[in-house]
Amino acid sequence: MAEQPSTRVLPHELPAALREAGLDNWIREPLDDAVDRRRRIIMPPAAAVLGTPARGHQGPLLAEAKHPDTLFMMGDNPALPAMPERPTLRDFYLLRFDPIPRMHLLQSARVARENGLDEKVVMACLLHDIAIAGLLSANHGYWGAQLVAPYVDEEVAWAIEKHEALRYFPDEAAGYSYPSAYIDYFGPDYSPPEYIRREAEAARRHRWYLTSRLVTINDIYSFDPNVTVDFDDFSDIVGRNFRQPEEGLGFDGSPVAHMWRTMIWPNNFL
Ligand SMILES: [Fe+2]
Ligand SMILES: [Fe+2]
Repeated sequence: MAEQPSTRVLPHELPAALREAGLDNWIREPLDDAVDRRRRIIMPPAAAVLGTPARGHQGPLLAEAKHPDTLFMMGDNPALPAMPERPTLRDFYLLRFDPIPRMHLLQSARVARENGLDEKVVMACLLHDIAIAGLLSANHGYWGAQLVAPYVDEEVAWAIEKHEALRYFPDEAAGYSYPSAYIDYFGPDYSPPEYIRREAEAARRHRWYLTSRLVTINDIYSFDPNVTVDFDDFSDIVGRNFRQPEEGLGFDGSPVAHMWRTMIWPNNFL
């Protein structure tokens, strides 16, 4: 049997400019329909590399793609599990999201449910960091809210959007203190920018404030390591609170379908 090519390019095979930048996000794969084995390159998205040593390597990567045995990644990346033709919310949790963000979302929803909270709150907790899990961390409340807006109650999307700003501001009367994790993440002297302050103040005066505040209260990082939570534990709540499109997420022609497709094929060059 012919030896399968490695999915990694060895460091010494990388052009020096890329090697020095630590840019080793290359994939070498035979294309199923290719006569010759060809490498596939992943061009990292601008949002991931701006301000990092990988910035500015579009040039060398583009030059690499001129080699006849090298192509840019398009379509299924063999390093990721294949998604079904009509993906559901569950498929993204199980086939795309890494264990830590997935568990964070599931545990938050579990705590909310154990606290006897409304299904809308449990659903918001289950989704609140979905952008961190699959898309982008910066502005994750806003990305996440947009991503799910066509499929959930308006109040759920609102709560997801606002949790990002409300996380920075304690509300002891509601039972919410400043997260100790944020002291680790940002230092004890971190002060959120003005636009976040304004967002939080406006959210506080909104009629749905408590819904978003409850997302922050159940947004905890210290979970019982002995408790495992499955996405399917919430299938009833998801069934009642998430309008799964028949054509599959990414293919329903909604204004956010492209965002789901970006999570299906995150390494597409274009
Ligand atoms: Fe968050
Ligand atoms: Fe969170």
